[in-house]
Amino acid sequence: MIKQQKIYVAGHRGLVGSAIVRQLEKSGQSNIVTRTHSDLDLINQQKVREFFDAEKPDQVYLAAARVGGIYANNTFPAQFIYENLMVEANVIHEAWRVGVKKILFLGSSCIYPKLADQPMAEGALLTGSLEPTNEPYAISKIAGIKLCESYNRQYGEVKGVDYRSVMPTNLYGPGDNYHPVNSHVIPGLIRRFHDAKLQGLPLVTIWGTGTPRREFLFVDDMARACVLVMNTDRDKYQRITASMLSHINVGSGKDVTIKELAEAIGKCVGFEGEINFDKTKPDGAPRKLIDSSKLLKMGWRPEYNLMQGLDVAYQNFCENLRH
Ligand SMILES: NC(=O)c1ccc[n+]([C@@H]2O[C@H](COP(=O)([O-])OP(=O)(O)OC[C@H]3O[C@@H](n4cnc5c(N)ncnc54)[C@H](OP(=O)(O)O)[C@@H]3O)[C@@H](O)[C@H]2O)c1
Repeated sequence: MIKQQKIYVAGHRGLVGSAIVRQLEKSGQSNIVTRTHSDLDLINQQKVREFFDAEKPDQVYLAAARVGGIYANNTFPAQFIYENLMVEANVIHEAWRVGVKKILFLGSSCIYPKLADQPMAEGALLTGSLEPTNEPYAISKIAGIKLCESYNRQYGEVKGVDYRSVMPTNLYGPGDNYHPVNSHVIPGLIRRFHDAKLQGLPLVTIWGTGTPRREFLFVDDMARACVLVMNTDRDKYQRITASMLSHINVGSGKDVTIKELAEAIGKCVGFEGEINFDKTKPDGAPRKLIDSSKLLKMGWRPEYNLMQGLDVAYQNFCENLRH
């Protein structure tokens, strides 16, 4: 029988947080605590303190963050670094203060250096310069990992503090942000292909050559990984990680070219026109793939392939349009 825990999921209305709630409910957890952003602004230390004093959860999934694509990162760098640092520091410290032993912090694969060897293993952290466009965001995520590690190192032995971090690859699925400008590649393309289909457009043009390779993971697969990492036995976790290299990559292990991705989304959406690539626009890194072998050693495997995941994501997009 599953051990019931009081679990706070921060950011439960987001792509990642909502998938974690779905996964926890599926696994039989029924005491899940949530607050919307307007009910509890995690930047506000006093409010976060009052929340933890009142709730005292057993576990915390920290999936609240200011998140966005290249455009948002470039336009709002101050907000990206300030808000994420504040949210992490407030949640981790105030949770620690009331005696929370287990936190899972959500980072991102953008923590790795721009020129890291592919596939990027956990050990690539802090071995080189970051991609400049999202450096402020990546620095805040690295700070989150180091917050978790530092609390473990100072309070782990004596107080049983055990805070862990996961670094997922590019995610997509139900609950994604389909904003036409301020979104990630899969939801952005779903919207563009859907709109083109409805308007009967003969052509969709995509920035770059279409040759860069990227890795994608369906968000429910990532949520299963989060619950597994949170609940893995401490000795086993410590054997797989190190005290100052404690984060775990979460990826599908498969990368596709942007052209292959666009064709798959076009097919899934039912767009019958042509896909064109504007080669005058920048491509970004030629390949971005993470090495998830540590997570595989913990027994996790993805359940959705790209086409299956895209079908679920597109159904969810259409349902959202109807409501
Ligand atoms: N999406 C990806 O591809 C991806 C990949 C790797 C890692 N991750 C990581 O996963 C985490 C969550 O990402 P996501 O894609 O789920 O983002 P998301 O869909 O934008 O969700 C983030 C959630 O956090 C909430 N939030 C933001 N600032 C807050 C604040 N100050 N106080 C309270 N709530 C706040 C947001 O509420 P509002 O919407 O009301 O502001 C939203 O519900 C991030 O740490 C991100 O780095 C995501």
